[in-house]
Amino acid sequence: MNEREQWKNRSIFIMAAVGSAVGLGNIWRFPYIAAQNGGGAFMIPYFIALLTAGIPLMIIEYGLGIRTQGSAFIALGRIRKPLRFIGWFAILSALCINIYYCMVLGWAWNFLFDISDISQWGSDLVASKQHFFKGILHLSDGPWQFEKLHWHLLLGLLTTWVVIWFIIKSGLLNIGKVLLFTVPFPAILVLILLVRGVTLDGSAVGLDYYLAPNWERLHDADVWLAAYGQIFFSLSLGFGTMIAYSSFMPKDTELPNSAAITSFANCCFSFLAGLAVFSVLGYFAVATNVPMESVTESGPGLAFIVYPAALAKLPVWVNFFGYLFFVVLLLLGIDSAFSLLETVGAALSDKFAFSRTTATTITAIFSFIAGFPLATSAGLYWLDIIDHFLMAYVITLVAIIECLAVGWILGAKNFAREVNRTAEIKIGATFSFLIKFFTPLILGVTMVLSFIKEIKTPYEGYPISAILVIGMGTIGLITIGAGLLTAVKTKNDADLGLL
Ligand code: PHE
Repeated sequence: MNEREQWKNRSIFIMAAVGSAVGLGNIWRFPYIAAQNGGGAFMIPYFIALLTAGIPLMIIEYGLGIRTQGSAFIALGRIRKPLRFIGWFAILSALCINIYYCMVLGWAWNFLFDISDISQWGSDLVASKQHFFKGILHLSDGPWQFEKLHWHLLLGLLTTWVVIWFIIKSGLLNIGKVLLFTVPFPAILVLILLVRGVTLDGSAVGLDYYLAPNWERLHDADVWLAAYGQIFFSLSLGFGTMIAYSSFMPKDTELPNSAAITSFANCCFSFLAGLAVFSVLGYFAVATNVPMESVTESGPGLAFIVYPAALAKLPVWVNFFGYLFFVVLLLLGIDSAFSLLETVGAALSDKFAFSRTTATTITAIFSFIAGFPLATSAGLYWLDIIDHFLMAYVITLVAIIECLAVGWILGAKNFAREVNRTAEIKIGATFSFLIKFFTPLILGVTMVLSFIKEIKTPYEGYPISAILVIGMGTIGLITIGAGLLTAVKTKNDADLGLL
């Protein structure tokens, strides 16, 4: 087997985990998920999800990675051999996410080139929509109308892959150095945006919309599922990423406090990013005399349509803030994207004894090519459908199984005993209750309810064929891939005692 590398120290490890967690999810996904799910009301399920599932699962993933010093399939396979399959299922989901995650970063590169004209294309919502859908995406009328492959999108995608390939290939010590830049710098930039936002007239309208709770929405299972899904996505849980990252730490590393620090850092960042986004949107709503609902309803377009249009309305320094916003998106996204690449690369090295470079290169080339449909005119539809299915089902399923496997098979008590040996904050009965009963139950119920809804009304009104082929098809492929990778026997599997 290859000698396993290690992070330089605990701070770098936590920084890497925060870098993975804080990403597009915080600034691109969080505000629109919050807006779609009742604005301020969403904060309640979100924080409940953080406490009841986010932090416990972070402790589980850290613990599994550290105790086995291996990727998700090893970490889970050590609990029971058949669970190797779930490990691979998670790892291949990370592969899928990265395919579209890098495309979103590819759009951001493209936006950077257009900022000099932002006052024109961002002059109002209609123009900004036109710029994103037609100018950047060349969006067609439906998921089966590919029209053509767009070179500028492909180039954006390629740029992202080349950047993260270089970083990951350079080894953990160098990644540590990259993180010293990609973690604090965007945080400072977001603070600048935040100060700009809250000092604008009308920002209070946006903040009120963001923070005022609407209790009614809490009856809707979808809102809860979205909250749990967002917590997992945002904390990089359920994909084997945190397992891979923690497997690069020595066995005596402190866990619960590290997990809490990572989780709170991430969620505080989301919250602050939300303030920065909604204050500017409030200003925009007041300046253009439209209700908040109409500036927040655009789904994934929020960061690419509404926000740029709002920035274009700033009294001064429009271009500066335009660049700032897209640089923030890129910097936040890059360290998350490379953590996803590392998840898959580390797993391939663990299974096939590939070198870091070989594993990373194979993964990057495969993922880049698999991203081609996303660079066609139907790309946004594909991305939206795949994102929905991975978030709503795959991530939740992996999370449920991780909780049950640690809670019941490994034994919550045994696990807690191991973890507590080096813990700064001890875990005990609450942790046990959460992972054995509460979290799996609430996740299971919300998943079933939302599946029922899915059957009744196809997601976002997409044609059934698209839902089946693109959404279910992706899950099907991940399942087959995980089955194959579990079935193939390698020398490393034998050495690890996994056969
Ligand atoms: N947490 C990242 C974000 O919020 C996305 C991510 C998910 C990264 C899963 C790694 C693993 O953008």
